[in-house]
Amino acid sequence: MVEEQKIILSARGIHKHYPMARGQTLHVLKGIDLDIRRGEIVAIVGPSGVGKSTLLHILGALDRPTAGTVSVDGVDVFSMDNGQLAAFRNRTAGFVFQFHHLLPEFTALENVMMPALIAGVDRKRAEKRALQLLEQVGLSDRAGHRPNELSGGEQQRVAVARALTNSPKLLLADEPSGNLDAQASKHLHELLWDLVRKEGRTLIIVTHNLDLAKTADRVIELWDGRIKSDKEVVL
Ligand SMILES: Nc1ncnc2c1ncn2[C@@H]1O[C@H](COP(=O)(O)OP(=O)(O)OP(=O)(O)O)[C@@H](O)[C@H]1O
Ligand SMILES: [Mg+2]
Repeated sequence: MVEEQKIILSARGIHKHYPMARGQTLHVLKGIDLDIRRGEIVAIVGPSGVGKSTLLHILGALDRPTAGTVSVDGVDVFSMDNGQLAAFRNRTAGFVFQFHHLLPEFTALENVMMPALIAGVDRKRAEKRALQLLEQVGLSDRAGHRPNELSGGEQQRVAVARALTNSPKLLLADEPSGNLDAQASKHLHELLWDLVRKEGRTLIIVTHNLDLAKTADRVIELWDGRIKSDKEVVL
Protein backbone atom coordinates (compact mmCIF):
# COMPACT_ATOMS: atom_id res chain seq x y z
CA MET A 1 0.00 0.00 0.00
CA VAL A 2 1.32 3.39 -0.98
CA GLU A 3 2.03 5.77 1.90
CA GLU A 4 -0.92 8.07 2.42
CA GLN A 5 0.99 11.39 2.31
CA LYS A 6 2.49 10.56 -1.08
CA ILE A 7 -0.90 10.32 -2.72
CA ILE A 8 -2.11 13.49 -4.35
CA LEU A 9 -5.19 12.09 -6.07
CA SER A 10 -7.40 9.23 -5.13
CA ALA A 11 -10.36 8.01 -7.19
CA ARG A 12 -12.76 5.34 -5.92
CA GLY A 13 -15.54 3.49 -7.68
CA ILE A 14 -15.80 5.90 -10.61
CA HIS A 15 -18.71 5.15 -12.90
CA LYS A 16 -19.91 7.28 -15.77
CA HIS A 17 -23.13 6.68 -17.68
CA TYR A 18 -24.44 8.69 -20.58
CA PRO A 19 -28.10 8.54 -21.63
CA MET A 20 -28.57 7.36 -25.22
CA ALA A 21 -31.48 7.23 -27.64
CA ARG A 22 -34.54 5.06 -26.80
CA GLY A 23 -33.88 5.12 -23.08
CA GLN A 24 -30.63 3.20 -23.42
CA THR A 25 -27.62 3.99 -21.25
CA LEU A 26 -23.98 4.00 -22.27
CA HIS A 27 -21.76 2.74 -19.43
CA VAL A 28 -18.43 4.34 -20.23
CA LEU A 29 -16.64 3.88 -16.91
CA LYS A 30 -17.54 0.84 -14.84
CA GLY A 31 -15.70 1.22 -11.57
CA ILE A 32 -12.28 2.86 -11.64
CA ASP A 33 -10.08 2.92 -8.53
CA LEU A 34 -6.87 4.88 -8.79
CA ASP A 35 -4.20 6.42 -6.58
CA ILE A 36 -1.76 8.90 -8.10
CA ARG A 37 1.41 9.79 -6.21
CA ARG A 38 2.82 13.28 -5.96
CA GLY A 39 5.45 13.96 -8.64
CA GLU A 40 4.37 11.03 -10.78
CA ILE A 41 3.94 11.10 -14.57
CA VAL A 42 1.07 8.79 -15.42
CA ALA A 43 0.09 7.93 -18.98
CA ILE A 44 -3.46 6.77 -19.69
CA VAL A 45 -3.78 4.67 -22.83
CA GLY A 46 -6.47 2.62 -24.54
CA PRO A 47 -8.46 2.48 -27.77
CA SER A 48 -10.52 5.38 -29.07
CA GLY A 49 -13.87 5.68 -27.30
CA VAL A 50 -12.80 3.67 -24.25
CA GLY A 51 -13.33 6.64 -21.92
CA LYS A 52 -9.87 8.19 -21.47
CA SER A 53 -11.05 11.78 -21.87
CA THR A 54 -14.12 11.07 -19.76
CA LEU A 55 -11.90 9.79 -16.95
CA LEU A 56 -9.43 12.66 -17.24
CA HIS A 57 -12.26 15.22 -17.11
CA ILE A 58 -13.61 13.57 -13.96
CA LEU A 59 -10.16 13.47 -12.33
CA GLY A 60 -9.78 17.20 -13.04
CA ALA A 61 -13.33 17.97 -11.87
CA LEU A 62 -14.40 19.25 -15.28
CA ASP A 63 -17.17 16.65 -15.26
CA ARG A 64 -19.02 14.78 -12.51
CA PRO A 65 -19.04 10.98 -12.27
CA THR A 66 -22.37 9.14 -12.11
CA ALA A 67 -20.99 7.42 -8.99
CA GLY A 68 -17.74 7.42 -7.09
CA THR A 69 -15.42 9.91 -5.45
CA VAL A 70 -12.29 11.83 -6.33
CA SER A 71 -10.19 13.39 -3.62
CA VAL A 72 -7.20 15.62 -4.16
CA ASP A 73 -4.92 16.16 -1.19
CA GLY A 74 -7.54 14.48 0.94
CA VAL A 75 -10.35 16.84 -0.10
CA ASP A 76 -13.44 15.26 -1.63
CA VAL A 77 -13.72 17.24 -4.86
CA PHE A 78 -17.36 16.59 -5.71
CA SER A 79 -18.61 17.52 -2.25
CA MET A 80 -17.41 21.09 -2.86
CA ASP A 81 -19.95 23.79 -3.64
CA ASN A 82 -19.81 25.48 -7.05
CA GLY A 83 -17.58 28.33 -5.89
CA GLN A 84 -15.05 25.94 -4.32
CA LEU A 85 -15.13 23.76 -7.41
CA ALA A 86 -14.44 26.74 -9.68
CA ALA A 87 -11.48 27.69 -7.47
CA PHE A 88 -10.22 24.09 -7.62
CA ARG A 89 -10.38 24.11 -11.43
CA ASN A 90 -8.64 27.46 -11.54
CA ARG A 91 -5.86 26.82 -9.02
CA THR A 92 -5.29 23.16 -8.25
CA ALA A 93 -5.66 21.53 -11.64
CA GLY A 94 -4.21 22.76 -14.95
CA PHE A 95 -5.60 21.36 -18.20
CA VAL A 96 -4.00 21.02 -21.64
CA PHE A 97 -6.36 19.76 -24.35
CA GLN A 98 -5.79 18.29 -27.78
CA PHE A 99 -6.99 21.54 -29.34
CA HIS A 100 -5.50 24.46 -27.54
CA HIS A 101 -8.77 26.25 -26.60
CA LEU A 102 -6.92 29.56 -26.52
CA LEU A 103 -9.15 32.63 -26.79
CA PRO A 104 -8.71 33.81 -30.40
CA GLU A 105 -9.15 37.53 -29.77
CA PHE A 106 -6.44 37.68 -27.09
CA THR A 107 -2.67 37.59 -27.44
CA ALA A 108 -0.53 34.71 -26.15
CA LEU A 109 0.40 36.87 -23.16
CA GLU A 110 -3.23 37.69 -22.36
CA ASN A 111 -4.26 34.07 -22.70
CA VAL A 112 -1.56 32.99 -20.25
CA MET A 113 -2.50 35.79 -17.83
CA MET A 114 -6.19 34.88 -17.85
CA PRO A 115 -6.26 32.21 -15.11
CA ALA A 116 -4.33 34.54 -12.79
CA LEU A 117 -6.73 37.44 -13.45
CA ILE A 118 -9.67 35.12 -12.79
CA ALA A 119 -7.99 34.11 -9.52
CA GLY A 120 -7.86 37.79 -8.52
CA VAL A 121 -4.14 38.43 -9.07
CA ASP A 122 -3.46 42.05 -10.04
CA ARG A 123 -2.64 42.79 -13.67
CA LYS A 124 0.99 43.65 -13.16
CA ARG A 125 1.83 40.47 -11.26
CA ALA A 126 -0.22 38.36 -13.67
CA GLU A 127 1.70 39.82 -16.59
CA LYS A 128 5.05 39.18 -14.92
CA ARG A 129 4.11 35.58 -14.25
CA ALA A 130 2.82 35.09 -17.79
CA LEU A 131 6.01 36.51 -19.29
CA GLN A 132 8.08 34.13 -17.14
CA LEU A 133 6.02 31.19 -18.33
CA LEU A 134 6.21 32.20 -21.97
CA GLU A 135 9.96 32.34 -21.57
CA GLN A 136 9.95 28.88 -19.98
CA VAL A 137 8.09 27.44 -22.96
CA GLY A 138 10.43 29.28 -25.35
CA LEU A 139 7.94 31.83 -26.66
CA SER A 140 9.02 35.18 -25.21
CA ASP A 141 9.19 36.62 -28.69
CA ARG A 142 5.61 35.55 -29.48
CA ALA A 143 3.91 37.19 -26.49
CA GLY A 144 2.03 39.68 -28.66
CA HIS A 145 0.82 37.12 -31.21
CA ARG A 146 -2.78 35.99 -31.37
CA PRO A 147 -3.41 32.21 -31.58
CA ASN A 148 -3.97 32.31 -35.37
CA GLU A 149 -0.53 33.92 -35.73
CA LEU A 150 1.15 30.95 -34.03
CA SER A 151 2.03 27.47 -35.32
CA GLY A 152 0.21 24.45 -33.89
CA GLY A 153 3.19 23.55 -31.69
CA GLU A 154 3.46 27.12 -30.45
CA GLN A 155 -0.26 27.24 -29.68
CA GLN A 156 0.10 24.09 -27.57
CA ARG A 157 3.09 25.55 -25.75
CA VAL A 158 1.04 28.63 -24.95
CA ALA A 159 -1.68 26.30 -23.67
CA VAL A 160 0.91 24.58 -21.42
CA ALA A 161 2.03 27.98 -20.10
CA ARG A 162 -1.59 28.90 -19.44
CA ALA A 163 -2.20 25.64 -17.58
CA LEU A 164 0.74 26.48 -15.31
CA THR A 165 -0.21 30.09 -14.58
CA ASN A 166 -1.63 29.44 -11.12
CA SER A 167 1.05 26.82 -10.30
CA PRO A 168 -1.34 23.88 -10.14
CA LYS A 169 -0.18 20.77 -8.31
CA LEU A 170 -1.87 18.63 -10.90
CA LEU A 171 -1.40 18.90 -14.61
CA LEU A 172 -3.87 17.01 -16.81
CA ALA A 173 -3.19 16.69 -20.52
CA ASP A 174 -5.50 15.10 -23.09
CA GLU A 175 -3.58 14.16 -26.25
CA PRO A 176 -1.74 17.49 -26.13
CA SER A 177 0.32 16.61 -29.20
CA GLY A 178 -2.46 14.86 -31.09
CA ASN A 179 -2.34 17.49 -33.82
CA LEU A 180 1.39 18.05 -34.06
CA ASP A 181 4.07 16.57 -36.27
CA ALA A 182 6.74 14.32 -34.75
CA GLN A 183 9.21 17.12 -34.10
CA ALA A 184 6.74 19.52 -32.47
CA SER A 185 5.30 16.64 -30.49
CA LYS A 186 8.72 15.69 -29.14
CA HIS A 187 9.42 19.29 -28.21
CA LEU A 188 6.10 19.59 -26.35
CA HIS A 189 6.63 16.37 -24.42
CA GLU A 190 10.15 17.26 -23.42
CA LEU A 191 8.80 20.55 -22.17
CA LEU A 192 6.01 18.91 -20.18
CA TRP A 193 8.33 16.27 -18.69
CA ASP A 194 10.83 18.94 -17.75
CA LEU A 195 8.20 21.10 -16.07
CA VAL A 196 6.99 18.19 -14.03
CA ARG A 197 10.41 16.85 -13.08
CA LYS A 198 11.92 20.21 -12.17
CA GLU A 199 8.96 21.65 -10.37
CA GLY A 200 7.63 18.60 -8.59
CA ARG A 201 4.23 18.66 -10.25
CA THR A 202 2.12 15.65 -11.05
CA LEU A 203 1.12 14.91 -14.64
CA ILE A 204 -1.67 12.69 -15.91
CA ILE A 205 -1.50 12.48 -19.68
CA VAL A 206 -3.81 10.71 -22.11
CA THR A 207 -1.94 9.58 -25.19
CA HIS A 208 -2.14 7.27 -28.18
CA ASN A 209 1.63 7.38 -28.45
CA LEU A 210 2.99 4.21 -26.86
CA ASP A 211 6.62 5.32 -27.19
CA LEU A 212 5.74 8.40 -25.22
CA ALA A 213 3.79 6.38 -22.65
CA LYS A 214 6.94 4.33 -22.03
CA THR A 215 8.73 7.46 -20.86
CA ALA A 216 6.13 8.01 -18.11
CA ASP A 217 6.57 6.55 -14.61
CA ARG A 218 3.45 4.52 -14.96
CA VAL A 219 1.06 3.42 -17.69
CA ILE A 220 -2.63 2.78 -17.05
CA GLU A 221 -4.50 0.95 -19.76
CA LEU A 222 -8.28 1.25 -19.99
CA TRP A 223 -10.46 -1.39 -21.51
CA ASP A 224 -14.21 -1.84 -21.41
CA GLY A 225 -14.71 0.79 -18.74
CA ARG A 226 -12.15 -0.64 -16.36
CA ILE A 227 -8.42 -0.54 -15.70
CA LYS A 228 -6.97 -3.43 -17.66
CA SER A 229 -3.42 -2.88 -16.45
CA ASP A 230 -1.57 -0.42 -14.25
CA LYS A 231 2.18 -0.81 -14.53
CA GLU A 232 5.25 1.04 -13.37
CA VAL A 233 7.58 1.64 -16.29
CA VAL A 234 10.86 -0.18 -15.76
CA LEU A 235 13.74 1.40 -17.62
N1 LIG B 1 -21.18 14.08 -23.34
C1 LIG B 1 -21.36 12.85 -23.81
N2 LIG B 1 -22.60 12.35 -24.02
C2 LIG B 1 -22.78 11.11 -24.47
N3 LIG B 1 -21.78 10.24 -24.75
C3 LIG B 1 -20.53 10.68 -24.57
C4 LIG B 1 -20.25 12.00 -24.10
N4 LIG B 1 -18.90 12.14 -24.01
C5 LIG B 1 -18.37 10.98 -24.41
N5 LIG B 1 -19.35 10.10 -24.75
C6 LIG B 1 -19.14 8.71 -25.21
O1 LIG B 1 -18.35 8.08 -24.22
C7 LIG B 1 -17.40 7.21 -24.83
C8 LIG B 1 -16.00 7.57 -24.31
O2 LIG B 1 -15.64 8.83 -24.83
P1 LIG B 1 -14.22 9.47 -24.54
O3 LIG B 1 -14.21 10.79 -25.21
O4 LIG B 1 -13.95 9.46 -23.08
O5 LIG B 1 -13.25 8.43 -25.25
P2 LIG B 1 -11.67 8.47 -25.46
O6 LIG B 1 -11.11 7.22 -24.89
O7 LIG B 1 -11.14 9.76 -24.96
O8 LIG B 1 -11.55 8.40 -27.05
P3 LIG B 1 -10.48 9.11 -28.05
O9 LIG B 1 -9.21 8.31 -27.94
O10 LIG B 1 -11.12 8.96 -29.39
O11 LIG B 1 -10.32 10.54 -27.63
C9 LIG B 1 -17.58 7.35 -26.33
O12 LIG B 1 -18.32 6.25 -26.78
C10 LIG B 1 -18.35 8.63 -26.48
O13 LIG B 1 -19.21 8.58 -27.60
MG1 LIG C 1 -10.30 11.45 -25.89
